[in-house]
Amino acid sequence: MEPEVYTQVKTSIKRKLGIDLTNYKDEQMKRRLDSWLVRARVENWNDYFTLCTEDATELERFRNYLTINVTEFFRDPNRWSMLSHDIIPYLIKNVADSHSVGGLKLWSAGCSIGTEPYTMAIMMGEEFQNQKYSLLATDLDRGALLKARNRGPYSSDDVRNLSAAQKQKYITPKAPFHVNDGLQRNIRFQEQDLFADRFDTGFDLIVCRNVVIYFTAEAKDVLYAKFTAALRPGGVLFLGGTEIISGPIKFGLQSFGISFYKKL
Ligand SMILES: C[S@@+](CC[C@H](N)C(=O)[O-])C[C@H]1O[C@@H](n2cnc3c(N)ncnc32)[C@H](O)[C@@H]1O
Repeated sequence: MEPEVYTQVKTSIKRKLGIDLTNYKDEQMKRRLDSWLVRARVENWNDYFTLCTEDATELERFRNYLTINVTEFFRDPNRWSMLSHDIIPYLIKNVADSHSVGGLKLWSAGCSIGTEPYTMAIMMGEEFQNQKYSLLATDLDRGALLKARNRGPYSSDDVRNLSAAQKQKYITPKAPFHVNDGLQRNIRFQEQDLFADRFDTGFDLIVCRNVVIYFTAEAKDVLYAKFTAALRPGGVLFLGGTEIISGPIKFGLQSFGISFYKKL
């Protein structure tokens, strides 16, 4: 895609969808946009945006494609084990004012269709039954959030990491799967753009996995600084498997095991 075309497409996307692509890696995004146009079987971007004006569902499909909401329950099970065996006990013991009314303050940032916050709810229910907590779950993608709020439907692939016992306890018996309403008890879903919107503060744990991989280095730095400010001292940031912060100290963070960073 020519640079001028990309600039125009970015402007149209900002206007029509409110998504600012300057924070996303250019080459990766251009490739995605090119292949979307081929799939949509239209000649050029002007034709495509005309199509979106005439068909709101096309615009929503485009939004879903752009925001890349691939996800599943217990994505990278080893990391979730570390969270439940090491990180949450540490937070309860050392950081959280766990006897306060609200208990642990957790946030799933970029929660997509809800598999991540529901994974957290399953883990808290199974391993920390007596621990109070609140869980904020946010995403930019309205369609994904709607599915999260509706507790599904989820595919067999989405739920493949749940054990037989967990499937029996937490999801409907047949596909397409929905999670039980009890899992929603402590979760508050909210639409939020990580760049444009302000963050709440005082979190014990921020889970932001497989979100920053699509962002430029500058955008990641902005976000890491915002996340650090939103954590309480000693609080932990949980990133995706390939998301490594180089020189975390400049944000006031310290590596705390693979994928985890502690606020100093
Ligand atoms: C690949 S999914 C990751 C979902 C989940 N965290 C996981 O690891 O399974 C990335 C999510 O980030 C969201 N996202 C992308 N850019 C965002 C932004 N600027 N603000 C908030 N959410 C964003 C997308 O809508 C998408 O749902």
